[in-house]
Amino acid sequence: MYRLLKQEGSARRGEFQTVHGTVQTPAFMNVATAGAIKGAVSAYDLKNLDCQVQLCNTYHLHLRPGDETVKKLGGIRNFTRWSGPVLTDSGGFQVFSLAKLRNITEAGVTFASHIDGHKIFMGPEESMRIQSNLGSTIAMAFDECVENPAEYGYAKASCERTTRWLERCKTEMKRLNAAEGTINPQQLLFGINQGCTFEDLRVEHMKNIAEMDLDGYAIGGLAVGEPTHEMYRIIETVEPYMPRNKIRYLMGVGTPANILEAVHRGVDLFDCVMPSRNARHGHAFTSLGCRNLLNAKYELDEAPLDETCDCPTCRGFSRAYLHHLFKAGEMLAMRLTVMHNLYFYNNLMKKIRNALDAGNYEEFYRSNREPLGKRI
Ligand code: GUN
Ligand code: ZN
Repeated sequence: MYRLLKQEGSARRGEFQTVHGTVQTPAFMNVATAGAIKGAVSAYDLKNLDCQVQLCNTYHLHLRPGDETVKKLGGIRNFTRWSGPVLTDSGGFQVFSLAKLRNITEAGVTFASHIDGHKIFMGPEESMRIQSNLGSTIAMAFDECVENPAEYGYAKASCERTTRWLERCKTEMKRLNAAEGTINPQQLLFGINQGCTFEDLRVEHMKNIAEMDLDGYAIGGLAVGEPTHEMYRIIETVEPYMPRNKIRYLMGVGTPANILEAVHRGVDLFDCVMPSRNARHGHAFTSLGCRNLLNAKYELDEAPLDETCDCPTCRGFSRAYLHHLFKAGEMLAMRLTVMHNLYFYNNLMKKIRNALDAGNYEEFYRSNREPLGKRI
């Protein structure tokens, strides 16, 4: 259940209660695609990084180790030892971005596994069954995420099919939650708004799914090829049609600056691989902008990555040491930088929440939007 605590402009401070704990929003979800944060960061580490929610993927866990196996092991929370809330993405996005040779029909999608090429079918019911086996706190609806730029006719047909798929997801989830032996009988379902960059399709679709009284609403199909200003325009277009009393999630976004701009436009929840992916390439986010740790200027720099950061990496190590670890190809380089970046993202959300609580969010937004996007 979402509770709106405070609002400044369109920015919302809220609380999302689940059976696995309460999430303070705006919040960032840490991506553990196959049950682990890439960069050798475990659920145990997440506790020290102020993380609130973990995100896992239906598609990956279905292929390996298999959702039936995860169910036998007590569900994804017991398996990974992450005791807080977990959101599972439906497979919709991954099937379209990772799998080869896919064929889409009204029933669902047939595709070849990116691991060994074997054929798999996934539709709304299969996705719900897998997510029920994983026992996540929140399941995402099975949708089609169309790449931008898209053709209007295709976008419209796909969007309408996504609505029909959502109805099937809702029916199947209801059945699974009531079935015997279900890991989380109170699993929540979020719907996903699609419609590419077409404002009329976005609004029409949002109106249709808003009527279905789901536990939360996501905006999907963004950050998939369109320019950033288009993404902001679409958020502004659909936001007025999103239910006030439900949590709002922008899928797969983005840079710290993107997140601040989306909070400003009324979004509560985010996920992105960027903090872990960028860290693995030596890119660290800081309060002054993004640093490339491979840069020779860090060779003798004894300062911590970010002078204002309280993460385990910044408390213990210098830029010079991290620079050396990256140069030497040491695994520790990635682990330490991923931990910093995750802390940075979660701490940014905390600062946004504190500013909203204190009533000075507007000032926070104006003084941070520019430095957050810088490279230093
Ligand atoms: N992750 C990022 N974008 C999307 C989307 O449009 N749909 C789903 N299911 N996951 C996503
Ligand atoms: Zn740090």
